[in-house]
Amino acid sequence: MIPDPDPIGLPAPDWLLIFLLLLTFVLHILAMNLTLGGTVIAVVSDFLGRRRGDERYRRLAQHLVSLLPITLAATITLAWRRCSSCRPSTASFSTHPRY
Ligand code: HEM
Repeated sequence: MIPDPDPIGLPAPDWLLIFLLLLTFVLHILAMNLTLGGTVIAVVSDFLGRRRGDERYRRLAQHLVSLLPITLAATITLAWRRCSSCRPSTASFSTHPRY
């Protein structure tokens, strides 16, 4: 007999865990998009600002860069899978009968 990988079971109804996983995944992707897209736009904008001597590009780049710590923190915080207090182990979540 294979021992139960997660003997205390799930900490919440599985429909709630799946709902939160999907919700936070969408938010994770949105925040990630701001982080990665914002970085690319900031680099290109700074480059154009220097080349064209246009201060508006540089201001846009500076503004985007100032937002990156917030968007990166949001990306990581919204990655819900490792939440230690609410995450079921992968094994029990995918292979176990419903509790
Ligand atoms: C700036 C880019 C990104 C950062 C910093 C980031 C960070 C993280 C972190 C820290 C986790 C938790 C890891 C764990 O639980 O072991 C995670 C989970 C995850 N990431 Fe990302 N990630 C990024 C981009 C992406 C992208 C591009 C995708 C897919 C299109 C993605 C999909 C996922 C999924 C599916 C999970 C697990 C489920 C969830 O939390 O929703 N991530 N990410």
